[in-house]
Amino acid sequence: MNFLKAFIEDCKYYDLEEIEVKSILKYLKKDQTILDIGAGIGRLSFPISKYAKEVIALDNNEELITYFKKHKRKNIKFIYMNIKDYIKKYNNFNLYIFAWPVINIKLINLIEKYLPKETILIIIIPDNNSDYETIINKLTKKSFKKDKEKKNKFLELLTKKFTLIKKRDINTKYTYPNEKTAFRVLKNAMKLWFNLKFNKTIDNKLKEVIKEHEKNKKIIFGEKIYFYVLKKK
Ligand SMILES: C[S@@+](CC[C@H](N)C(=O)[O-])C[C@H]1O[C@@H](n2cnc3c(N)ncnc32)[C@H](O)[C@@H]1O
Repeated sequence: MNFLKAFIEDCKYYDLEEIEVKSILKYLKKDQTILDIGAGIGRLSFPISKYAKEVIALDNNEELITYFKKHKRKNIKFIYMNIKDYIKKYNNFNLYIFAWPVINIKLINLIEKYLPKETILIIIIPDNNSDYETIINKLTKKSFKKDKEKKNKFLELLTKKFTLIKKRDINTKYTYPNEKTAFRVLKNAMKLWFNLKFNKTIDNKLKEVIKEHEKNKKIIFGEKIYFYVLKKK
């Protein structure tokens, strides 16, 4: 399965109640413009564009160029560019969304530098200890200590660098209709995001983990999200 297909499927079963979207909409006023930083397949850009004047979906993944040509919406413009090159030149937006971001300290420093005074920056970042985030630990002995430390440093920096308007912990979930779908989608997601190589043993472990998450005939993995609303200091 290619990158884009795996990415689309991974998003398809996440946050069906649109809790992330609803949380963002509380900070959007009529006729405002949004920059969705590292927009991916526009999981947030598309639903939010219904309430915005314009959304710029920014991403440096080349495969997304054809995706956004197929999935058009009048007030969404896809920009294929590196975040750091774009925000230096264009920063005239009412709201920035940086969801499930690449954990990069240099990048957050740059965003801070070019963030206009009145612009709201929303950062949505998953906690390391939720059901979904810990799947990989249950399948391999790979240590994610360094990644976790990096993420904690990133989170600490947010409250130092910006004025914190609000921080909420929100609970979202992945809901799969059955074990078979959960297995296919999770396997591809683990390959996509963690570069995990599967074999029979890991397949079986994943099946066991999935079984533990059956609720009312559905497969549910909880996700805890940190939702930051920030402004320039
Ligand atoms: C985990 S995905 C999150 C996608 C989306 N924000 C969401 O919440 O569904 C991270 C995205 O950031 C993009 N990305 C990572 N580094 C980037 C960079 N330097 N410039 C532009 N996009 C970047 C990736 O291509 C990917 O689509």
